[in-house]
Amino acid sequence: MRKKKRIVSIVGARPQFIKASVLSRSLKKAGMTEIMIHTGQHYDPVMSDIFFNDLHIAKPAYHLGIGSASHGLQTGRMLMEIEKILQKEKPDCAVVFGDTNSTLAGALAAAKLHIPLAHVEAGLRSYNQSMPEEINRLLSDHLSAILFCPTAAAVENLRREGLANPAGSAGRAAPRGRKSLPLICHSGDLMYDLAMEVRASIDHDAVLARFSLPAKAFILATIHRAENTDDAENLENIFLALADLAKSGIPVFFPIHPRTRKSLRALPGRGDPLPPLFVIHDPVSYPEMIALENAARVIITDSGGVQKEGYFFKTPCLIPRQESEWTELIASGWNTLCRPRRKDIFKQALALCRFPGRRRWRNFFGGGAAAETMAGILKNY
Ligand code: UD1
Ligand code: UDP
Repeated sequence: MRKKKRIVSIVGARPQFIKASVLSRSLKKAGMTEIMIHTGQHYDPVMSDIFFNDLHIAKPAYHLGIGSASHGLQTGRMLMEIEKILQKEKPDCAVVFGDTNSTLAGALAAAKLHIPLAHVEAGLRSYNQSMPEEINRLLSDHLSAILFCPTAAAVENLRREGLANPAGSAGRAAPRGRKSLPLICHSGDLMYDLAMEVRASIDHDAVLARFSLPAKAFILATIHRAENTDDAENLENIFLALADLAKSGIPVFFPIHPRTRKSLRALPGRGDPLPPLFVIHDPVSYPEMIALENAARVIITDSGGVQKEGYFFKTPCLIPRQESEWTELIASGWNTLCRPRRKDIFKQALALCRFPGRRRWRNFFGGGAAAETMAGILKNY
């Protein structure tokens, strides 16, 4: 009898629990054994446990409890612990997701032990290496044997880096130092599949009532990128713009990442009362977030996942960043980059609220079967 394939999946941060939940189901359906490692990068119940409960993810086989630290210390501790587990479990393949420090630690540990590595959400680029995420995704892609790309643009990015044959040609030699080219799979996006499934199953009115928000008449905001939270000027500008929007009569709901809450506390004048329509709330559950993104008039976010979900639901997003990895969403006109300055954010968000406009919507994210495609490839690799 053929031995059951054993897959180690490595997660640690909020968006990874969400992505892994979909793949886990398909691995199980395809008859593979999954051994999940949770690095503990995110640990507050609202950043971790809530996703395991709501998305029915089995308890991880290993919880490393690494917690927060500087990049080197956090990644190094993860690497040490993941290596021990991989040596013990000897999986057929290790899977990492996205672009966090947990992704890089898992990728390094697997690659150095010559365990085939699969990267989910491969090929995304901001081309800005001052972002920790860009370093993490670039290195993870170049260490991988299997690259699961959510979009055609991601495949093209990998091609430009020499990881795939140029379009229309075959048989290109592997880049120096690699035995062969990695397997590149245009799989579609796990987050699209899950977001559509969850949107269809939740009680939207109940969520809006819970937060007292009027459908299609509020702004949803999330901010957590280092470039905005660790730069007091950017953070203050974003915060003041959100307060100005609330003062102008549009309710603003801001489920706040713990990192941002900590940085906000250090801002001068933060003790002042918030305008009545400005609500800062603890992070919400995934189904609640899906309902809020679907019902918002406009989203203001620097999150990769949230800007994408906004697009899934045809909710325009304003992104206080210099660039986005999801370039097709900017090109489509649904998502707009914006200087993280009080006046710019205020003006652009107000304009989007007043004239949301009509734009062409195309599905860049596949046909809803990304996880099945990935499981099929992992099973036969
Ligand atoms: C990380 C990822 C980022 C991803 C984000 C998803 C890296 C380098 N960054 O950013 O790519 O978009 O997760 O949310 O991996 N904290 C808590 N409780 C928690 C988790 C974090 O209080 O449960 C606070 C700590 O003060 C910590 C800070 O948030 O120092 C930052 O956490 P960290 O995991 O280092 O980075 P994120 O900003 O969450
Ligand atoms: N999310 C959530 N609750 C929140 C904020 C975000 O469930 O309060 C979800 C969101 O729907 C998306 C994912 O978390 O699926 C995005 O994670 P995050 O913004 O932390 O990271 P990024 O995508 O930028 O890496």
